[in-house]
Amino acid sequence: MYHPAWEWWQACSVCPTIWLCSDGDLCPSNLANPPVPNLGHLETAVVQPKLLVTNFAAYRDRTFAKLLQYTGDFAAKNTPDCLDSLLSDSRGVVLDVGPGAGHQLFRFSNPTNIKAIYGVEPGVTMHGDLRERAVRAGLGDKYKILSCGAEEESLYPALAKEGLLSDAVNQARADTGGAVFDEIVCVRVLCGVPLPESTIQGLYSLLKPGGRFIVCEHVVNSGDARAGGSSLGLMLQNVFMLVGWAFWTGGCQLKRDTLKLLMKAAEQDDGWDKVDIETWEAWSTVPHIVGALTKKA
Ligand SMILES: C[S@@+](CC[C@H](N)C(=O)[O-])C[C@H]1O[C@@H](n2cnc3c(N)ncnc32)[C@H](O)[C@@H]1O
Repeated sequence: MYHPAWEWWQACSVCPTIWLCSDGDLCPSNLANPPVPNLGHLETAVVQPKLLVTNFAAYRDRTFAKLLQYTGDFAAKNTPDCLDSLLSDSRGVVLDVGPGAGHQLFRFSNPTNIKAIYGVEPGVTMHGDLRERAVRAGLGDKYKILSCGAEEESLYPALAKEGLLSDAVNQARADTGGAVFDEIVCVRVLCGVPLPESTIQGLYSLLKPGGRFIVCEHVVNSGDARAGGSSLGLMLQNVFMLVGWAFWTGGCQLKRDTLKLLMKAAEQDDGWDKVDIETWEAWSTVPHIVGALTKKA
């Protein structure tokens, strides 16, 4: 039920993790099963305390894998509805960026249209669950897991190893000759990549002319009521960032303007052919952009 006061109450009173994992609706039945977001840190600190000082990257990977283990189902349930139809239309050779433990894979509901799908997931502790969910989604051997990041210097060599990019393109980096994917899918991952501008640029170069770049990403609240944003939502994003949101959530940024970066990536071609993006729950602390951008043919 929509009521502005109710939505404002939610925007004011909750931590984004609980919001994300509560179907965007803090009704009593959802609150009866709250996720426990920081257990990952606690568990890792107890079970592998040395990691904190000897290998912080591995500590962070492990805590994030635990976080997804506790919250993945809730968070996947609370995803804009239109993502289903976008991913059910997926076809050809697909790059799935940051699939985590694969909680969203069931949305690729027409696997026969997919020739191959490459899951770029640096968190190796999640690969077992990712593989299992790929099989359950009917993607089976078509789903290939790459242990790398989405940044050019990490992704391009991994694709060259798979035989998708020639060594020449790999060495030249961002060369347009490397456009090998019919679709690139980013679901709640661009908020956490360390170098968003160059990473998105590198991904754009890998998309074939006419290909779709599908996004479902939480972004900065515009703070502009005329655009559906709220100054309170924006202020809360600032507060959560100040109290260490990125630390607790594997580097996630609440205030990233991902759409602006996506638009910038296509400037070399005078923009995208089609931009079909909507903003979901623009008033909240975790507004999402969701939809597809089509590259000029
Ligand atoms: C919030 S989770 C989302 C997982 C999944 N897309 C979902 O919606 O359930 C973000 C994922 O991005 C991955 N990730 C973080 N940095 C990355 C990078 N530089 N390149 C690719 N993936 C990355 C994380 O390991 C994690 O699995």
